[in-house]
Amino acid sequence: MSAIPHHIAIVMDGNGRWATRRCLPRVAGHKKGVDALRACVRHCGERGVKVLTVFAFSSENWNRPPEEVSGLMELLAMALSREVPKLKSEGVRIHFVGDRSGLSEKVRAGLAQAEAATAANTRLVFNVCFSYGGRWDIAQAAARLADRGEPITEQSLDRAMALADVPDPDLLIRTGGERRLSNFLLWQAAYSELYFTDKLWPEFNAAELDAAIADFGQRERRFGRTSQQLQPPAPRKVA
Ligand code: FPP
Repeated sequence: MSAIPHHIAIVMDGNGRWATRRCLPRVAGHKKGVDALRACVRHCGERGVKVLTVFAFSSENWNRPPEEVSGLMELLAMALSREVPKLKSEGVRIHFVGDRSGLSEKVRAGLAQAEAATAANTRLVFNVCFSYGGRWDIAQAAARLADRGEPITEQSLDRAMALADVPDPDLLIRTGGERRLSNFLLWQAAYSELYFTDKLWPEFNAAELDAAIADFGQRERRFGRTSQQLQPPAPRKVA
């Protein structure tokens, strides 16, 4: 049996292309993306993954056409009202990560309500990065330390980051064929195993997730050490 990553992070790319190939508006691809996300959350819980972090809306996505931005905001509001009761009963704790200052009062209230409603759950932590950028996170952490007059060290920065409550991702998946981080978890992905697939996000299902987990199980994680250092010591010969 292969190792199960404690924390999986996902760049859910390819919704737009999925829709365009079917002559549908891009927002239809995002809607289908919500379906894929629901299945993914469920499967992570079933496989024993403890933390799932997804990139739902980046700091740079604000520059998309206004109708796509408002479509994503509506989709978020709709997904929250539909999905939160299910997440609550399935033991999922939802947490939103990102700069909430640009969000409407209504959306902000929806995020806070979803977090409060699931706060007691412990089966799976589900971080939704929304209006998020890795550079934003590093800058806000540094600004917080500067405000408090605390020295900036790797440890203090780590504790001030938005995902300070969970260990760094073990496995970072990107769908949609691109092979880049696009400002996702720049700090936390330092030692994540990266997995890229050409599947578009709406096509990413339980079997695809299992394939990524199986691939992860084959990796040797050295964290800067050598292979030999990772080998258990040979058993001592008894005379
Ligand atoms: C990237 O695909 C995807 C996004 C910018 C949005 C991801 C959102 C979801 C999967 C739905 C969940 C969202 C909410 C609001 C809960 P793309 O649009 O860049 O696709 P493309 O590369 O094919 O154009």
